[in-house]
Amino acid sequence: MVRSEQERGRPRPRDYQTNSRPRNSRSRHSGETLFAPVSAVLIRKPRGDDAAAFLAAVRRSRSLHRGWVAPPATLKAYRVYLKRIHSGQDHCGFLIIRSATKALVGVININNIVLGPFRSAFLGYYAFSDYRGQGLMREGMRHVLRYAFKKLKLHRVEANIQPQNHRSLALVESCGFVREGYSRRYLKIDGRWRDHERWALLAEDFRRRKSD
Ligand SMILES: CC(C)(COP(=O)(O)OP(=O)(O)OC[C@H]1O[C@@H](n2cnc3c(N)ncnc32)[C@H](O)[C@@H]1OP(=O)(O)O)[C@@H](O)C(=O)NCCC(=O)NCCS
Repeated sequence: MVRSEQERGRPRPRDYQTNSRPRNSRSRHSGETLFAPVSAVLIRKPRGDDAAAFLAAVRRSRSLHRGWVAPPATLKAYRVYLKRIHSGQDHCGFLIIRSATKALVGVININNIVLGPFRSAFLGYYAFSDYRGQGLMREGMRHVLRYAFKKLKLHRVEANIQPQNHRSLALVESCGFVREGYSRRYLKIDGRWRDHERWALLAEDFRRRKSD
């Protein structure tokens, strides 16, 4: 497959800001937050000065993540992650942040972005344990999907999920993803190749849901 990173006119992944003030809100967006005050969460790109809070949240969430994801757990790994999402246009990452307290709720990454006739990417995500199961990741996911389809103008966003990962399956299903297939021994996690279900949301699905 030919990658088209060179494609002209592609929007650079960056903090997603709305152009207008949100309804029902008197506050203005700062330079770096998005989808703010009417939402319980906002999304923004991770920064160097998030390292301590991020790594502490990862430490507290070890049992939640085990067997599903392997987030950066050291300062070195966090810096590599930042470099990956800030340099180049293949990856894009967002912290999900609780609007009221600015606490870290979780992370959603848009990985392996390929444009051209493909216009596709893969999601990776995890909540931090203090905030799981509160509907906040779902809200963050909807913001990230809006970014993926409206800013990056992707046509397809995929999530590959282990069949036993019921929370993750419920999350994508609630956002309108459709199960498209089953990939045997798709990803190596904790030293073992694991089967995954392939779920996808298309731009037209996303538009249709918005107009429902
Ligand atoms: C997967 C994961 C991110 C889900 O996070 P979460 O905090 O449980 O997600 P949310 O609470 O925002 O949403 C998921 C659930 O809330 C439901 N939900 C939340 N708000 C809702 C709303 N307003 N309307 C309808 N459904 C809603 C979702 O359908 C889903 O279903 P369930 O509660 O009935 O099971 C989290 O469990 C996690 O980090 N797991 C470990 C890492 C991982 O597995 N990552 C994914 C690898 S593929």
